[in-house]
Order: sequence, then C-alpha cells, then structure tokens
Amino acid sequence: MKSRIAGYLLIIALIGVVIIDLSAYLLPANHSMVWIVIETVVDFGAIVLLFLVLSREIRARRGAEELLAEKNMELRAAFEELAQASALKSNLIGIVSHDLKNPLQAVMGYSQLLLLESATDENSQEMLGSILARSQDMLSIISDLLDTEAVESGSLALVKERVSLTKIVGQIVESFEVEARKKGQNLVFVGCDTDFVEINILRFSQIANNLLSNAIKYSPLNAPIFVSVKSQTGWVRLEVKDAGPGFTEDEKARLFQKFPRLNKKTTANESSTGLGLSVVKLMTELHGGKVFAESPGIGYGSTFGVEFPK
Ligand SMILES: Nc1ncnc2c1ncn2[C@@H]1O[C@H](COP(=O)(O)OP(=O)(O)OP(=O)(O)O)[C@@H](O)[C@H]1O
Ligand SMILES: [Mg+2]
Repeated sequence: MKSRIAGYLLIIALIGVVIIDLSAYLLPANHSMVWIVIETVVDFGAIVLLFLVLSREIRARRGAEELLAEKNMELRAAFEELAQASALKSNLIGIVSHDLKNPLQAVMGYSQLLLLESATDENSQEMLGSILARSQDMLSIISDLLDTEAVESGSLALVKERVSLTKIVGQIVESFEVEARKKGQNLVFVGCDTDFVEINILRFSQIANNLLSNAIKYSPLNAPIFVSVKSQTGWVRLEVKDAGPGFTEDEKARLFQKFPRLNKKTTANESSTGLGLSVVKLMTELHGGKVFAESPGIGYGSTFGVEFPK
C-alpha cells in the first residue's frame, strides 16, 4: 500500500517536472530567475523523491530475499530431518526383517522334520501343515519387506541374462498348476517365439509368481486364467487375465501401492498382505520395464501385466 502511494507521488512529481520544464522551454519569457529557481527546486524534489522510492524498493526486495533464504534454510533442515528419519525407519525394517528370517526358517525346518519323521496321526499332521503354511506366508512377507527396502535404498543390483520369456513363464505356470487345479481353475498359457529379453531370472520369477498367485487367489472357483507372452516392437509383454472381481479406475490408481486395502475377497481363504504388486512394480521398473492393469469394471475380471524392453 505504502509503496503504491510512493509510486503515485513519484508519477505526480515527474509530471510536474515535465510541465514546468516544457513551459520554461516553450515560453522563453518565463526564463526569468524565478522560473529557473522553481525549475531547480522541482527537479531537485523529483530526484530526492526518486531516490527515496528506489531505496525503499531496494530495502523491501532485500527483506523479501532474506525471508526467502531463511525459509529455504528451514526447508532444507526439515528435508534433512525427514531423510534421516526415513533412513532410520528403513534400517529398522531391514534389521527386524532380517533377524526374523533366521528363527522363522528354523521353525519351518523343525516342523518339516516333525512332519516327515514323527507326526503319524492325522491331527498332528494337519497342525504341522498349518504351521508350515503360515510360516511360509510370514517368510514371504519378510522377503517382500527386505526386497522393497533393498530396492528403495538402491542396494539391489540386478545380474541379468538374455532368456526366452516364454520358456521361463511356461515353467512358472506349470509350478502353479496344482494350486489352480485345487480351485478347479484351468491355466491356459500361450507363448511366442520372438521373446528374448535381458532379465534377472530370480526377480522376474518373483514378478510372475505374484501375478499368477493373485489371479488364482482372486478368481472364482472353476474360472479359467489366461497367461500369455506377447512380443511387440521393442517390448516383450507378460499378461495374466482372470475372471476375478476386477477394479474401478479409482482402485486402479492404488493397486501397485503398498497395503492398498481394496477389500477384494480371496476366493479360498488365502492370505492377503498387500505387498505383492508393489514388489512387482519395483522389480519391473528396476529392469527398465513398466506395469499395467486393465479391467472393464467390477465383476468383469482383470488383466495384469508387465512389459520389458527387448
Ligand atoms: N487379479 C486381481 N483382481 C482383482 N484385484 C486384485 C487382483 N490382484 C490384486 N488385486 C487387488 O490388489 C491388491 C494388492 O495386490 P497385492 O498382490 O499387492 O496384495 P495381496 O495379494 O493382497 O497380498 P500379497 O502381499 O500376499 O501379494 C489386493 O489386495 C487386491 O485387492
Ligand atoms: Mg498378491
């Protein structure tokens, strides 16, 4: 407000200077001592006013710059604090997950031994089977957390080899056949022959396992599941199409996040942690690839997939 008033004053003073200077120039009769004095005073006044307005502007700008620098420093400090907290959290997840893995593997080993050697009655066999299955679930959660942490901290290096995706996916589909058959689901696999890509087989298997286990988990009993490897210019694509619950556009935006809580029911009481697709995305992007998911809508199934550069 104050600087606007100063601006107006300056404009008025400058107009005054122009009028007086012009009238002194146009009316030679006015070139008396009085006019010269008036002219000098008005010019001088205008210069002083100009100086005052400019120094005020400079002061205001300097103040704003100092405030900006101060805010910048505060922001940087907050960012550093956040980065430290995030590193601490990641470290903690890493330590806890790693330390849980060993005792869990021991529990699994002992229950496997008991199952093989001493558990003869049906009841104990069933309980040991449950201990094993739940431990396996826990182990895969821990592995997902450790992998996520490794990718996010940049410490997961991929050793890649050139392989046929059709061959790898074929083997993975086979390994899911028993599980699918238990739910009466038919796994239909179609490959192709121009499908060589550079991948890390272990990490790619993690991706395919997650997509296939989701399709089996969320599809109704006796529904078919279509798995295909397709080759396009520059890309090879793995697609898994199911007749499950599908998803809305709104849900689509959250599918690949950690713990998306979308309330989809598994169809045979399978466990659902909410980490699998986030790992799929991390691992795919680590290969320079991308994930996709399509659905015609709730109740109309979905197609999940990944694409890798050739
Ligand atoms: N084929 C599918 N059809 C419909 N919804 C799906 C499908 N696959 C995943 N989803 C939805 O996306 C969510 C995230 O999937 P994600 O694989 O990350 O987790 P999850 O299968 O629940 O648990 P897990 O960590 O064991 O994989 C699921 O909880 C489910 O709501
Ligand atoms: Mg999953």
